[in-house]
Amino acid sequence: MSELLNKAREYESQNVVKIPWEERPVFHFSVPTGWINDPNGFSDFRGEHHLFFQYYPYETAWNSMHWGHASSTDFVCWKYLPAALAPDETYDGAGVFSGSALEDGERQVLIYTGVEEYTEENGEKKIRQNQCIAIGDGRDYIKSRENPVITAELLPAGSSREDFRDPKIWKEDGRYYVVAGSRNGDGSGQIVLFYSDDLKSWNFGSILDRSQNKLGRMWECPDFFPMGSKRVLMISPQEMQADGLLFHNGNNVAFLIGDYCKETLRFCRQEVQCVDYGLDFYAPQTMQSQDGRRIMIGWMQSWDNPIYPTEHLWSGMMTIPRELTMRNGRILQKPVRELEAYRKNEAAYSNVAVEKETILENVRGRSVDLELAVKGQEYGKFRIRLASDKKHYSEIIYDREDGILTFDRTHSGLTKDVLCSRSMRVDSPSHELRLRILLDRYSVEIFANEGENVMTSLIYTPQTAQDIIFSCSGKAYMDVKKYEIEVGK
Ligand code: FRU
Repeated sequence: MSELLNKAREYESQNVVKIPWEERPVFHFSVPTGWINDPNGFSDFRGEHHLFFQYYPYETAWNSMHWGHASSTDFVCWKYLPAALAPDETYDGAGVFSGSALEDGERQVLIYTGVEEYTEENGEKKIRQNQCIAIGDGRDYIKSRENPVITAELLPAGSSREDFRDPKIWKEDGRYYVVAGSRNGDGSGQIVLFYSDDLKSWNFGSILDRSQNKLGRMWECPDFFPMGSKRVLMISPQEMQADGLLFHNGNNVAFLIGDYCKETLRFCRQEVQCVDYGLDFYAPQTMQSQDGRRIMIGWMQSWDNPIYPTEHLWSGMMTIPRELTMRNGRILQKPVRELEAYRKNEAAYSNVAVEKETILENVRGRSVDLELAVKGQEYGKFRIRLASDKKHYSEIIYDREDGILTFDRTHSGLTKDVLCSRSMRVDSPSHELRLRILLDRYSVEIFANEGENVMTSLIYTPQTAQDIIFSCSGKAYMDVKKYEIEVGK
């Protein structure tokens, strides 16, 4: 094992215990110690779910990237494993960037981006991003002697040598395939596909899709998977400009839905869907579970508005893993069903008339799974205040006439002038709005109408703010089911 990896493993084992359990989210994955961003290598191996992640153990800020590692049997309760990869080779010394994993018989194959920094003859510093392989047993990994195995030299002429990253691997009919993010000669993103029979020698296959400067600039963290009769190319584009409520400025995530021809390796995009409308969601990745479900997990933080408290010894969480399904051409997201096993203390109410502020007995807390149906045509705006006390609250506001749902964390206890609010279109067919809200110590995930539209945002409100308050203008009726989520230490 390299000195760098050993150092990271020792550091994390000594420091993970310094973070009090009460300071961590209850049911969302959080970094052992230090910093995380993107989920990597989300996949099964030897009957367990594995999650790797972009990781800097030593500080709560992005720095020289490692891969951290954890496993789970149910997507909710995670066990930390020793860091998997460190930037300890010339070809990855400037960072072991995002990538993916594959169960390949007895071995677990990791593929990641090695970032190399070098100095040109004129003294100018340059970087190269190439794709590298490491093979292991679910705990320890050996980097391939052939690394880097996919170099930017294989890309079509004009493509950037610097922006070429985040390989996602799968195996189909005995052949390995990889998609990766790349920058086209026009300066904007493209997703390139490669194939190989032995993981060592790779061929360029096709450009699956490209931005043409219409859907943001660089495209990061691609994933490519079947959904029903369609194929989905999921991308994380940078530098987008707001498009109504559909996309916001900066980093976004989109499902590109279309048809794929395996023989010609061509993808034909038909639809573009925004994946998450919230303030804190980026770089998701999917896997297929043993029982055939397509499950997605994302990084629950924003590059442009990182709001984590400076006194924390950790920074970075993942969303709840979400099951993806397709209905009428749209992809729906639902929290993994395994979460239901952690529900405690049910409180259920039906047909509660809401006119003024309404508080329901036992509907409160900071680790809550809340199901809500709001009915009627005689109200204008329906409001839910979460994590509320005399001073704080975060609010969900549904404007029935406009069909717009807004999340606002202005009063959540922030002391910096960061972005606080986002909105999304939510129709309420048959005059019924259905919401599922997952509230954890530091986050709010809102799933509207069976997960047709989803919104993920962070709040760092003091944990003593526990109230949930409903109100509306006019009169609405609501059914409420509330569960506490409890996950053991
Ligand atoms: C996305 C990203 C990836 C890259 C990684 C580096 O958030 O920029 O493209 O591999 O983070 O940490």
